[in-house]
Amino acid sequence: MLVLGIESSCDETGVALYDSEQKLVAHQIYSQIELHALYGGVVPELASRDHIRKLPLLVDAALEEAGKEYSDIDGIAFTEGPGLIGALMVGALYAEGLSYALKKPLLGVNHMEAHLQAVHLEDEVPEYPFMTLLVSGGHSQLVLVKAFGEYEILGDTLDDAVGEAFDKTAKLMGLPYPGGAKLAKMAEEGDDKAYDFPRPMIHSGDLKFSFSGLKTKVAMTIKDSTEADYPNIAASFQRAVIDTLVVKTKRAVTEYHVKSIVIAGGVAANKLLRQELARVMEPMGVRVFYPRPLFCTDNGAMVAYVGHERLMRNQGSLNYDVKLKARWPLSTLSSKQESEQE
Ligand SMILES: Nc1ncnc2c1ncn2[C@@H]1O[C@H](COP(=O)(O)OP(=O)(O)OP(=O)(O)O)[C@@H](O)[C@H]1O
Ligand SMILES: [Mg+2]
Repeated sequence: MLVLGIESSCDETGVALYDSEQKLVAHQIYSQIELHALYGGVVPELASRDHIRKLPLLVDAALEEAGKEYSDIDGIAFTEGPGLIGALMVGALYAEGLSYALKKPLLGVNHMEAHLQAVHLEDEVPEYPFMTLLVSGGHSQLVLVKAFGEYEILGDTLDDAVGEAFDKTAKLMGLPYPGGAKLAKMAEEGDDKAYDFPRPMIHSGDLKFSFSGLKTKVAMTIKDSTEADYPNIAASFQRAVIDTLVVKTKRAVTEYHVKSIVIAGGVAANKLLRQELARVMEPMGVRVFYPRPLFCTDNGAMVAYVGHERLMRNQGSLNYDVKLKARWPLSTLSSKQESEQE
C-alpha cells in the first residue's frame, strides 16, 4: 500500500510517500520560517496562504522523487489537528479533493501521534510498551505508549511548552524566530554553571511540568546583563530545562517499569537532551530512541507513517465529513477507530 502523507498544521508544508514494502520512498518539506521571522512568530493567515501555494508543488515533487504517478496512491493521510485551523484546512481540503478524484480512502491523522510515532521511520525502533517524552513548540508531555494507538498522558505542562520557553528566551536575547535551536547553539559557547536557575517542580513528586517561573527568572537576568553574558545565560537556561526533563522522565520510567524511552517533537533535536537522557537511562537498562533531527520537527513523513498504519487497519473512508481540531488530546485516540470526535 502506498500512502501519501500531508502535514500543514503550522509553518511547515510537508509531503511524503510511505510504502508497505519499501517504507519511506519520498519526503518533501518546505519551511515558512523566513516568511514569519519578520513578525517574530507564525502569522496564521500567511501560513494558510503559503500552504496553498506550496502543497500541490510538493506533492508533484514527491511523486517524481519516488517515480510514481497519482494513480499509484492507495490512500491519503493528512493532519487533522491539533494546529492552526486555517493551515489545517488547506491540507484537509487538498486531501479530500485528491481522495475524491482518485476514489482512494482518506484519513485524518493526529499531529502529536505522528510526532510520537516518527521514531518508526528509523531502522532501530523500540518495543511496546515505551515511554515518550513529547517536547515540541506546543506540547510538553510524558506519554505511556502501551501499543500503537493506545496512549496515556501521565504528565503535561501547566503553562509554557519546552519549545515555547526556548523560543521566548531566545527572542529576549535578540535571536530570530524560532530561536530554540539557535539558543542551543549559543549554549555550546557558554558555561552552564554560570547561573543557578530554578529546576521547576522537580520535587513535586508528580510528572507535571511548568516553565513560566524559570522563563521569568531568565528574563530578569537578561534585563540586567550585556550581550557578552548571553552564552552563559543560554547554557544555564538549557541545563535547567534539561535537568528538569531528565528528572521527570526518570521518575516516569521507574514508576511504569518500561525498558525504552522515546524523545519526540522539535526539542528532541536538542543534542544535550539526547546525551543526558542516554547517560541517565543506560545504567538503568533503559534504551533511548529518537528520530533523526529532520523528523523531530514538523514533517510529512510522520503523517504518512501513521496514515499507513491506520489505513492498513481499514480506518480510512470516502466520507468527507472532516472535523478539524485546534485541540485534540492523544488520550482520546484508540488503535481501532480513527478518533472520537470532540
Ligand atoms: N536543538 C533544539 N533545542 C531546543 N529546541 C529546539 C531545537 N530544535 C528545535 N527546537 C524547538 O522545537 C520547536 C518546534 O518543534 P515542532 O515543529 O515539533 O513544534 P510545533 O509543531 O510548533 O508544535 P506542536 O507539534 O506541539 O504543535 C520550536 O519551539 C523550536 O525552537
Ligand atoms: Mg509539531
